[in-house]
Parts: sequence; structure tokens; C-alpha cells
Amino acid sequence: DSELGTSRLMVNSSEKSSRSGVPSFFQHSVEGWRVNSSLVLMIRKDVLRFLDAERDVSVVKSSFKPGDTIHYVLDRRRTLNVSHTLHSLLPDVSPLKNKRFRTCAVVGNSGVLLNSGCGKEIDSHDFVIRCNLPPLSEFAEDVGLRSDFTTMNPSVIQRAYGGLKNATDTERFVQRLRGLNDSVLWIPAFMVKGGERHVESVNELIVKRKLRVRTAYPSLRLIHVVRGYWLTNKINIKRPSTGLLMYTLATRFCDEIHLYGFWPFPRDANGNMVKYHYYDMLKYRYFSNAGPHRMPLEFKTLKMLHSKGALKLTTSKCE
Ligand code: CTP
Repeated sequence: DSELGTSRLMVNSSEKSSRSGVPSFFQHSVEGWRVNSSLVLMIRKDVLRFLDAERDVSVVKSSFKPGDTIHYVLDRRRTLNVSHTLHSLLPDVSPLKNKRFRTCAVVGNSGVLLNSGCGKEIDSHDFVIRCNLPPLSEFAEDVGLRSDFTTMNPSVIQRAYGGLKNATDTERFVQRLRGLNDSVLWIPAFMVKGGERHVESVNELIVKRKLRVRTAYPSLRLIHVVRGYWLTNKINIKRPSTGLLMYTLATRFCDEIHLYGFWPFPRDANGNMVKYHYYDMLKYRYFSNAGPHRMPLEFKTLKMLHSKGALKLTTSKCE
């Protein structure tokens, strides 16, 4: 049996749903959640057999020199040259070196956050991780404002900031980065080919406008080692989502991890529609095998960890 005992909870890719379309495993929510500290420690130890979270969270300046060639992690035949700008933004040391937090929030982007009133609770954690540079101020009541660590897939530049093609979008983006206020901006720049133009424009803007963000770029092995960790627990996730990557990294730094905004299903427990993102009109893409992630399987795993006290998953209103 695996150390997490997950094998008994093995799931197949077609998640079972009740007639209301609500996954049946979520209909009986567990009352009175309590952290299981020995399980938290065990998971941390287990995770650290695979990843050196402190180092894998970012490559550092001394790893490369300008002009070096990097092979994309998920597309090994394609390469990227380390520009002077990129090199100048690599941190000298891991942004999470020697860090330890009592409680952390990892905030996913599901529409389940809308009308949750979770903003205050999220902001009350010692460290708040957000995914893909989501808008905050218009949704503060439900999602909060604090961010200590924000991820940004290069695709966000195209999707939410028009590829930074005109001055309005560029200014909007600059304002958003100013809002990060010296916190960490984590850019998976070496995962797949495609967004390199965007990464370079973002990097140039940060330098030119002297934006106070602490840039970080995940190590070339992060995805592989995270996948390896879950696989030994019999969870086969080829391409972990940003949310799962963040949870896995957080196990190293956080004693209590609270997840919000994780709900990869189009309906809530009462059968009401739930938007894929709380802030835009993006559609659900993850139910076919063609999608890059297996979020329902990830969710089922996180739910199981919630019931064992390894993490706390909030999918309803906050008190
Ligand atoms: N998420 C979720 N349910 C949703 C939307 C998102 O559980 N309806 C979680 C996932 O773990 C996801 C994270 O929140 O990785 C951030 O959401 P998003 O920015 O939408 O991620 P994607 O761009 O869809 O995917 P990724 O960055 O993981 O490639």
C-alpha cells in the first residue's frame, strides 16, 4: 500500500457523478476538520524525497549565463536562449530559502469562490499563493487581496492582456504587477515552447519600469519530480496543474495548508452553475482526455487528503 493509503481510493478517469451532476464523493462533507500534524510531517518527508522544494521553486543566477541554451521541459527538442534580461531577473537565491509558515493559503481560480465571502479568511493566512495573476480588487470580498507568491503562465499575457500589443493593455499589466508589491512572481518560462515572446516582453517591462517584483522561474525538473511524487502514491498525473504544483511545493514550507478556489466541476453541491474562473468567461476544458490536466482526479486526491487532515479544502462559503 502507498504511504498515503491512497491506493484504496484509486479513481478512474471517468469520475462518478450523481444525477445532479455533483461528484458523489463530495456530497458528504466532513464536519470539524482538524489538522493531522503527523500526516503533514510524513507527507513533507515523502515529498522531499523527490523534490528539493527550496531549489526547485526557482533556478538561480548561478545556474546559467546569458546565451546559454535551455531545452523546454515538456518539449525537449525545442530550445530557448537565456537573454541578458532573463538572466538579470533570475534570483540569486531561492525566494523561499529558509522560509517556514504556520498557515498558508493556496488559491485556485474556480468560480466557486464567487459569493463565498472568503476574502478575509484567505488574507489572514501567513502566506498566500495565487495562480495565474488573477484579478483581486474587484473580487476582494470573496478572494482577498493579499498575495505573497503569484504564478503566471506565459499564456496569461495573451489571454488577459492582449499580448501586451497596445498601450492600454500594457499599462493595465504594469499596474497589476505594481500591485504585487515586492512579492514573488513565478513564471514557468521553460515548460513548453510558445510563450517565449511574452516572457521576454514581461521581463523587459519589469526591468524598464523598475517594477518591484521578485521574479522566480521554476527548475527544469519540477514537473517531473512532482509527477514522480504523486505516482509513488499511485496517483498518475502526467501534467500537474498549477494548483497541484503549488500545494506540493507548499508542503515543504507550510505547517497547515488551506486550499480555496479548487472546484473543477461546472455545478456546485446544490446543482448551481459554477464558472470555471471567478473572473472571466473561460470554459471547462478538462473533462476530455485532450485537456492538459486531470483536475477532477487531482480534486479527488485533494479531497481525500482533506478528509485525513493533511490539508483543508474549502469549497463553500467561509464563516
Ligand atoms: N482550479 C480548480 N478548479 C477550477 C479552476 C482552477 O481546481 N474550476 C485550480 C487548478 O488547480 C488550477 C488552479 O486552480 O491549476 C489555477 O487555475 P487556472 O489559472 O485556471 O489554471 P489553468 O490555467 O486552467 O491551468 P494551469 O495553470 O494549471 O495550466
